[in-house]
Amino acid sequence: MGRLADRTALITGASRGIGRAIAERYAVEGANVFLTATNHEKLEETRKLVVGHGVHAHCHVADVSEPSSAEAMVNAALAWRGGLDILVNNAGIHIPKPLLDYALDDLDRIMRVNVHAVFQLTQLAIRHMLTRGVGKIVNIASTAGKWESPNQAIYNMSKHAVVGLTRCAALEFADKGININAVCPGIVEGGMFDLEKLAASYGATKEQVQKAVVSRVPMGRLVTLEEVAHLAVYLGSAESDGMTGQTITISGGMRMG
Ligand SMILES: NC(=O)c1ccc[n+]([C@@H]2O[C@H](COP(=O)([O-])OP(=O)(O)OC[C@H]3O[C@@H](n4cnc5c(N)ncnc54)[C@H](OP(=O)(O)O)[C@@H]3O)[C@@H](O)[C@H]2O)c1
Repeated sequence: MGRLADRTALITGASRGIGRAIAERYAVEGANVFLTATNHEKLEETRKLVVGHGVHAHCHVADVSEPSSAEAMVNAALAWRGGLDILVNNAGIHIPKPLLDYALDDLDRIMRVNVHAVFQLTQLAIRHMLTRGVGKIVNIASTAGKWESPNQAIYNMSKHAVVGLTRCAALEFADKGININAVCPGIVEGGMFDLEKLAASYGATKEQVQKAVVSRVPMGRLVTLEEVAHLAVYLGSAESDGMTGQTITISGGMRMG
């Protein structure tokens, strides 16, 4: 029996990166996974990966930044296996720019995916979880949700909002059987931070950028997708029943408190 045996989890942003890694670890631990993102082909790749672990998996294409699509997605997830035990709010976007180069459209775009969708999905999931008296919400925030970073002010604003929502929602539903926590990764190998693109923008090599980034990490390496996924398993499982409103940093020791 896995640590998430027979649970049903809705995972946003499951088409690649951290979301795909979470989907796979959840499947290994016995969860049935409702996988969503906008890229159907990539979602299908995730589905093929996870069904190999003997669980049920379903792909649903939706843009979470569109409220009507997000609501239809949750309804489809609830109908799929008759309920939802875990919501993993993982989908997110990152548009790096110096502060003065941002347009208000950038603010709108990032906030709609990273904040509005997380808020809406959290509300919808809680309404359902209240009817059962149990549920887990795992938000993938970031170290950018707790501290400052250069050239990504809007991203940091959005992740600070996710951290704030995590704490407030956790407080309101702490005595209702609903645990709401966040994972705050540092820079993750294989995720959205494309070191090659970053290197090109600085006129440097990927190796130079990797070295500069890693030099800030006490462990001397980046965190892996699987390490983040393990934490998401813990927060989705009964092992974390006594924990809510926490925003747990996983960063190889970068930022210790
Ligand atoms: N990678 C890191 O170093 C790092 C560090 C800290 C926090 N995080 C956070 O971890 C989460 C996952 O990051 P990642 O590195 O795995 O990023 P990624 O590789 O870029 O994946 C992002 C996922 O979000 C989905 N997505 C984006 N916009 C969407 C939308 N409008 N509707 C539905 N799905 C959407 C993407 O799917 P489609 O393209 O198919 O829609 C994709 O599956 C994000 O919230 C990110 O902020 C990442």
